[in-house]
Amino acid sequence: MQDNPILEAMLRRKSIRKYTSQIPPDDIITSVVRAGQQAAFASQLGSIMLSRDGKKHPLGAPLLFTILVDLHKMELIMAQRNWKMVTNDLSMLLFGIQDASLMAENMVIAAESLGMGSCFLGMIPYAAAHFARKHKLPRHVFPLVQLAMGYPDEAPPPRPRYPMDFVLFEDEYPEFNEQTVKEAMKVMDDGYMAQSYYRDANLMIPLEGDREETYSFDTYGWTEHISRKWGQWNSSVEELLEQFAECGFSFTDEKEQSK
Ligand SMILES: Cc1cc2nc3c(=O)[nH]c(=O)nc-3n(C[C@H](O)[C@H](O)[C@H](O)COP(=O)(O)O)c2cc1C
Repeated sequence: MQDNPILEAMLRRKSIRKYTSQIPPDDIITSVVRAGQQAAFASQLGSIMLSRDGKKHPLGAPLLFTILVDLHKMELIMAQRNWKMVTNDLSMLLFGIQDASLMAENMVIAAESLGMGSCFLGMIPYAAAHFARKHKLPRHVFPLVQLAMGYPDEAPPPRPRYPMDFVLFEDEYPEFNEQTVKEAMKVMDDGYMAQSYYRDANLMIPLEGDREETYSFDTYGWTEHISRKWGQWNSSVEELLEQFAECGFSFTDEKEQSK
């Protein structure tokens, strides 16, 4: 493995969920946002909403960035050029997610390099309509993800990841055998349990339905945690489609009148 300050910042990064009350100065915020802006883009379809009202923020972070998928600015530019956007909203959303995500991760690494910490918060799409009203978002702007940021008041270790052979495939997707899957699971579960992650956070997703709880913090690891999420939550698309609709996105071929 190579080593340099950028790789070091990337490899020591971890989500920070406790912050000091120190407010990052403006030039630090500007540096983080500039790093975000300079990410590669398909179409510059990302914007950033900053809120500094730390007392009200999740995790008590002094800064809360909401990363927006923003088609509105592109529509304004195209109107200046006498064009109308005909590309479907699903394609534009996809490119917007690509742009906005790269922007957000650049901000995370920039924050790390400046001695700050951050934590992504992924639930905002489910409250997109409320967020859009509160922050006066025009149609075709969707809050993708939030980023809590500030100076860390905790120093957790970097968290485990899958083994490399479960992530990097050369030329051909492998046929995973049970042993490879179990080895990857063991790396994650042993790693999280060794760090006492769920015990310290007192976090175990409750079982719904008639499954009986058989886990304790001695046995509850990341693979059980993540399985409980995607095995129990959000089976219907309706809730999310409604949030998109409220933000002016439509995922059918019937063009809206206003387009
Ligand atoms: C898109 C996204 C959404 C996330 N949402 C949340 C969240 O709502 N709450 C939270 O505490 N952590 C959230 N996280 C942080 C993850 O839990 C964290 O990145 C993961 O457990 C790996 O840990 P690490 O970031 O410390 O390496 C989110 C991360 C991403 C990338």
